Amino acid sequence: MLTGVGSYLPKNKCSNEELSKFVDTSDEWVSKRSGIKFRHFVSKDESTSDMAVNASFNAIKNAKIKKEDIDLIIVATTTPDNTFPATATLVQKKIGINAVSFDVQAVCAGFVFALSIAKSMMIDNYYSNCLVVGADSMSKLLNWDDRTTSVLFGDGAGAVILQKFDNFDKKLDNWGILSNVIHSDGNFYDLLKTNGGVSSNQMTGFIEMSGKEVFKHAIDKLSLSLEEALSLSNKEIKELDWLVPHQANQRIISGVADKLKMNSKKIISTVKDHGNTSAASIPLALDHAVSSKKIKNGNLLGLQAIGGGLSWGASVIRIGKP
Ligand code: UT7
Repeated sequence: MLTGVGSYLPKNKCSNEELSKFVDTSDEWVSKRSGIKFRHFVSKDESTSDMAVNASFNAIKNAKIKKEDIDLIIVATTTPDNTFPATATLVQKKIGINAVSFDVQAVCAGFVFALSIAKSMMIDNYYSNCLVVGADSMSKLLNWDDRTTSVLFGDGAGAVILQKFDNFDKKLDNWGILSNVIHSDGNFYDLLKTNGGVSSNQMTGFIEMSGKEVFKHAIDKLSLSLEEALSLSNKEIKELDWLVPHQANQRIISGVADKLKMNSKKIISTVKDHGNTSAASIPLALDHAVSSKKIKNGNLLGLQAIGGGLSWGASVIRIGKP
């Protein structure tokens, strides 16, 4: 069951107007083409693991569990503190607990991939309390001379607590992660990538994206994967209380809603306030909606994300516990 959620955004908030002082862009262009108004940037002494730890403590508090109960930590990130070891091990150390800890790299789809892995590991290996984090410092991968990408991304972290309860009670069957689907297709590797890496040129690289093509794939693949996840859990779109999509672009969010014929009032959108935070975007939006009491205990949620790879997926979750 998903019993806690938390998030963190760095203090440094940058508006489109401020951004247009050092990027050749305008508030009008960014707002119209993406719906983004603000993004947050990590400070010089702040790292992905710091944001992940802040979000994690908020999720632990929200779940009302002891941090020592956590036995599995999965961090979805594309921007680790170091190339290795896994950022998750640093998160584990900074939280001050013992837990199996590792990273997942599926870029913007990372959180949905991490949920899928966490569910399987909890079923197969008897882990009971899993902390799943999405955290990214995307600003570190931005080329400020490339206005087609640098205006879209920001930094942040979000986290959830998944708890396993004894399955004797039939009324628990319809709670927690009901279904997950994940996909990837390396034929689209070049559509969204960095122009550097450890084994290619020993550089971190900057983001390069074929925006229009990614846009088209996003609408199709996000819609299809949610339909797949709903079908696996024997649910229909109309049964969803909320859709919590990847927060990349308001036009993609609206395009998916149109394609799925989903009421826009049932869609959580926070992209205006933080831009595309990659793996952090879904748990950030989820936490915002839970804190503002839009999403309530027992609501049925659809989650969906797509990113570099291409990698994409969706989950159907009944949030909270009976
Ligand atoms: O997790 C998945 C992550 N990726 C995404 O979500 C991205 C998906 N793609 C998109 O969101 C959109 O394709 C963008 C927002 C990136 C671009 O929107 P677009 O409507 O596809 O614009 P465009 O690339 O066709 O550019 C239109 C015009 C061009 O000028 P010309 O050639 O028409 O004169 C660009 O040079 O807008 C210009 N332009 C800009 N102007 C001001 C491109 N970027 C900017 C900018 N500011 N930042």
